[in-house]
Amino acid sequence: MKLLIINGPNLNMLGKREPEIYGTQTFEDYFTKLQFAYKDTELSYFQSNIEGELISKLHEANDTFDGVILNGAAYTHTSVGLGDAVASISTPVIEVHISNTFAREEFRHHSYLSKYAKGVIIGFGLRSYDLAIENFLMKD
Ligand code: DQA
Repeated sequence: MKLLIINGPNLNMLGKREPEIYGTQTFEDYFTKLQFAYKDTELSYFQSNIEGELISKLHEANDTFDGVILNGAAYTHTSVGLGDAVASISTPVIEVHISNTFAREEFRHHSYLSKYAKGVIIGFGLRSYDLAIENFLMKD
């Protein structure tokens, strides 16, 4: 099973950024732990602060990965283009968020991605990514 994690803007700042919301762990440290925990799964990771790069990465992932785990971060709430990119590929995408976006500002309650996602996992901290992997590993 080949899975790609795509993280959007400001998620490169995890560990330093608003730790009361996002925790103190860097994504790189967490990703190393994930690779250890899911040794039989080929996990890849891409992060960008640039909307077009996230869109291009989704296109590249089409048919080359079995699944994508996407945290669009702020672009989740603003980007028709990112939503269209999710819709345009046949590889299933699970949308994840670290924080419970519904318990935060109203503008975070809407996602341009959810409609096209296989499912959405919100608010379990970095464990949201574990849960998405678990779902991809489940036999349907
Ligand atoms: C986030 C939630 C978004 O509202 C925010 O813009 C982020 C991170 C999360 O993982 O909780 O950057 O996607």
